[in-house]
Amino acid sequence: MTEEKRTPTDSHAPDAASDTASAPAKAVAAKAPAAKPAKAATAAPEITRRGLFSWAAVAWVGFTAAIGGCMTAFGRFMFPNVLFEPPTSFKVGKPDDFPPGVVDERFKDANGVWIINNEGRLTALIAICTHLGCPPAWLEAQNKFKCPCHGSGYYKNGINFEGPTPRPLERAKISIDPDDGQILVDKAQKYLWEQGQWDDPSSFIAVS
Ligand code: FES
Repeated sequence: MTEEKRTPTDSHAPDAASDTASAPAKAVAAKAPAAKPAKAATAAPEITRRGLFSWAAVAWVGFTAAIGGCMTAFGRFMFPNVLFEPPTSFKVGKPDDFPPGVVDERFKDANGVWIINNEGRLTALIAICTHLGCPPAWLEAQNKFKCPCHGSGYYKNGINFEGPTPRPLERAKISIDPDDGQILVDKAQKYLWEQGQWDDPSSFIAVS
């Protein structure tokens, strides 16, 4: 048996070769971990910037909404809702336009009165039930006013005779305009039967 003699050089040759072969790998391995911290270092500020933009957007939307609400409130203050109601004083025509015995309904919807030529007097009867304020209807066939809400009934002259209402309909001031001879009605002034006001000369126009 012959023993092969190995010189120190021979015994270290493979190690040297392996060292030489692993040198590039070591270099790569040394480089690889170094890349990660670099990436992490750039990611952190990016998230922070996004968050900052998000909060800025939320704040801006909130600010805009608040300003919008203030402007709306200011606009409502400067230009409040206005109720346009028909004038309380108006003309309805000449006495000859209202024949005897007729309940004229032409002014009920627009002005809330019936013009009635009854028993030698022209009157302006206010179309509001004296029970709880519903608008009664004139029933020509039954010759009476009837309230649809609770059934109060009134004669042609406005006196109540049925239902829960405690008193007659009210009359408005009525007169002749001396300038043009037209009938002038003024709802701002009312005449109540129960207070004896229906004989007041301002509550009717005498007709033949
Ligand atoms: S409101 Fe007319 S009867 Fe009640």
